[in-house]
Amino acid sequence: MSYLQKEIKNSVAVLTLDKPGEKVNTLDESMMVQFSEFLDELNTNDELRGAVLISGKKDNFIAGADIDMFKARDTAEELEELSLNGHEILNKIEASAKPVVVAIHGSCMGGGLELSLACDYRLASKHPKTVLALPEVKLGVIPGTGGTQRLPRLIGIQKALGYMLPGKNIYAHSAKKIGLVDELVHKDALEEAAIKAVLKIADKGPHQRKDKRSLVEKLLEGNPIGRSIIFSQARKKTMGQTKGNYPAPLYIIDSVEFGYKNGKKKGLEHEAVLFGKAGATSESRALVNLFFGITDAKKNPLADQVKPVKTIGVLGAGLMGSGIADVSINKGKYSVLLKDRTLEDAAKGEKVIWDELNKKSKKRIITPFERDEIASRLTGADSYDAFGKTDMVIEAVFEDLDLKRKIVAEVEAATDDDCIFASNTSSLPISDIAQGAKRPENIIGMHYFSPVQKMPLLEIITTPQTADWVTATAYEVGVKQGKTVIVVNDGPGFYTTRILAPYMNEALLLLEEGASIEFLDKIMKQFGYPVGPMALLDEVGMDVGAHVGETMAPMFDARGGKSSTKAKELMDAGFLGRKNKKGMYTYESKKKQVNTGIYQYFGGSARSNPDAETAQLRMALMMVNEAVYCLQEDILKSPTDGDLGAILGLGFPPFTGGPFRYIDLKGAKWVTEKLNEFTDTFGPRFKPAELLADMAKSRKDFYE
Ligand SMILES: NC(=O)c1ccc[n+]([C@@H]2O[C@H](COP(=O)([O-])OP(=O)(O)OC[C@H]3O[C@@H](n4cnc5c(N)ncnc54)[C@H](O)[C@@H]3O)[C@@H](O)[C@H]2O)c1
Repeated sequence: MSYLQKEIKNSVAVLTLDKPGEKVNTLDESMMVQFSEFLDELNTNDELRGAVLISGKKDNFIAGADIDMFKARDTAEELEELSLNGHEILNKIEASAKPVVVAIHGSCMGGGLELSLACDYRLASKHPKTVLALPEVKLGVIPGTGGTQRLPRLIGIQKALGYMLPGKNIYAHSAKKIGLVDELVHKDALEEAAIKAVLKIADKGPHQRKDKRSLVEKLLEGNPIGRSIIFSQARKKTMGQTKGNYPAPLYIIDSVEFGYKNGKKKGLEHEAVLFGKAGATSESRALVNLFFGITDAKKNPLADQVKPVKTIGVLGAGLMGSGIADVSINKGKYSVLLKDRTLEDAAKGEKVIWDELNKKSKKRIITPFERDEIASRLTGADSYDAFGKTDMVIEAVFEDLDLKRKIVAEVEAATDDDCIFASNTSSLPISDIAQGAKRPENIIGMHYFSPVQKMPLLEIITTPQTADWVTATAYEVGVKQGKTVIVVNDGPGFYTTRILAPYMNEALLLLEEGASIEFLDKIMKQFGYPVGPMALLDEVGMDVGAHVGETMAPMFDARGGKSSTKAKELMDAGFLGRKNKKGMYTYESKKKQVNTGIYQYFGGSARSNPDAETAQLRMALMMVNEAVYCLQEDILKSPTDGDLGAILGLGFPPFTGGPFRYIDLKGAKWVTEKLNEFTDTFGPRFKPAELLADMAKSRKDFYE
């Protein structure tokens, strides 16, 4: 199979990368071998003066290394060898006597960028879709094809770490500014400009680059003492952010540092060793599995039943409604009618969306023309007059069952028979909302997370009456909106809210027992959650927390639960959280402060913290055990859905792979024993789900 098409233009070989049958190019072993063979030809064929690498795919240069080849290798040694093979070819490009120029349009990620770094000259299109990154850290590995050595030498150590450690995107204009690409052109002019660049280098010698680093950067990076300060600060900052849960960022720092101490050649060899080490960790394996879970979820399981959707009505232009409208017009390219009670209320939501678009246009992520075009898809409304043309209506009005039922009736009257009604409720059972509906088969839950623009998950909830085409179509809309979709069955709190509730409840019980607010947040961040439970309660809002707690309490209490009523008490006392700047924290000054005033509701201001590990496990295992209950009760269709939902919706520590992979990692036996121990000490709410206890007995894993 040929991945590279070669054409000779003006004595320059134009190599078009085009992986047959795939939407995007990924770098795999066959492509690398073909590169290597081509390089031999380039350097022996006197007719050729150099080469251009360009992509034949739309809006994609190379999306990264093919992760299958990574997954197929288990041991550090095998992974190290993979990295060394890649080095060999990239070193060959770098050493080529004839110039190799890369012409980048679209995403240029991971191995794609590393390949580009080995070339003599980098051209990129000015297009907003052109984005470069070394995101390997997100898979728990390090850039393993020279990235940790070539990037810092090109743009500076601090900038390179700033991009590699979080795996951050670099858009075309920034890439030019920092010297990562040498020239920007219109995408249609890429090939011609690249051929010119080859000929220029062939005639006049290597391109001379200006050092784009600031004076301070140059001073610090130019001597060993300055560099050791940079590396030690980077390690400190990384430990602060990862709490030591992710080894890969530290390996990246080690790799860069080693390369500066021992030179690039040795640096590359060491990079391969660290790539192998990082890739063999359980953290990396979990992140790779998560990646595959997300990729698989992009495929609609009911694709053949999807009905076309052009116009979406969104009801409620508040926090969630405006977010849903935003992703619908931006990513989904749908027309949206955004209706609120008054035109002024609708305009508030429209303004939020416009401001975001404007920001993107100012940052040159989109052009002013694109901004206006996207904005033109949105229309504010205070009536259902134009709703006859909607194919789907998503409601995000207040969390009130009677209001939602009233809205169902209004929408049914204003729309056609095959208009879907989706509710974004966070906890009301969808069957309850559908009660009394004329077309219950059209009703479904589409549960988004706040902030909708950023949070990657969409939890779709079906009732026994929901028609398959409705589920299929909602799935399609979610994927187009850029979401990872899971489909779960209806029940109190569905999946995500249901597993969040006992976790939050346990946090409140610990607070009642005497723990401090900052202690609880600190230990759960150490455990790997992005925010602690107290801060999360403030973000969600005490009113929402109280409402969810009340809705779910009967189910948990029937199983011997101990439901805290503190969220409701705090709500009644006016502590709503961030929305009124008064909750577990106060938000009056720039930095939020612990609200010690709250302690009067929790036994007074003298606090005494319990053992951190026990407290961490009490909270986390509540969530884990509840996830198993959800699988046992068919709320969840698979452990993969459970893992995706918990990580992407609630921030369950990604390096564990999700609650089900966490159980597999620790062993169902260990988790069951812990839960039994907690049942004896703290009460029957910790009783392990039967399915978990069975797994422990039969020593089975959720994933084979
Ligand atoms: N806030 C979250 O984090 C979150 C997350 C997931 C789901 N939800 C759910 O989303 C829904 C909305 O939450 P929110 O946080 O956006 O609330 P919000 O208070 O910010 O917005 C609600 C909007 O609905 C409007 N509204 C009320 N009655 C209406 C009617 N009859 N017709 C049209 N508009 C009407 C209000 O004017 C307001 O603009 C709730 O069901 C909530 O449970 C919220």
